[in-house]
Amino acid sequence: MVFITRRERFSAAHRLFRNDWSDEKNYEVYGACSNPNWHGHNYILWVTVKGEIDPEIGYLCDLKTLSKIIKKYVINKLDHKNLNTEVAFMKAKMVSTENLAIAIWQELQQPITNLGVELHSVKVQETENNYVEYFGN
Ligand code: NI
Repeated sequence: MVFITRRERFSAAHRLFRNDWSDEKNYEVYGACSNPNWHGHNYILWVTVKGEIDPEIGYLCDLKTLSKIIKKYVINKLDHKNLNTEVAFMKAKMVSTENLAIAIWQELQQPITNLGVELHSVKVQETENNYVEYFGN
């Protein structure tokens, strides 16, 4: 079994907040990420796939094709968008890095399976100091 990781990047705005809480309470819980006037992050996304090497070609899968899939299903929908209001697969969800990683997994799983490899993990970095990894369960 071999693992390959493709890195992609996107920039996006979000706000962490609950409608039923005051701005003060949201700030207490979510800190700067609850700014009522939005703010942005330069996100980094790592998508790791696994499988067996194709003996004829010598690699697991075509990374250009993998990159195209990630761009089509995820990056193009997120980049330079407001994650709270403009992204169908984040509708009605708290736009935390955790929920983003899970939603990205759900968007990518089928297209990556169709490519002939298995999705192993989705890793999303929101700031230099923290990232979230999701392995599908
Ligand atoms: Ni934030």
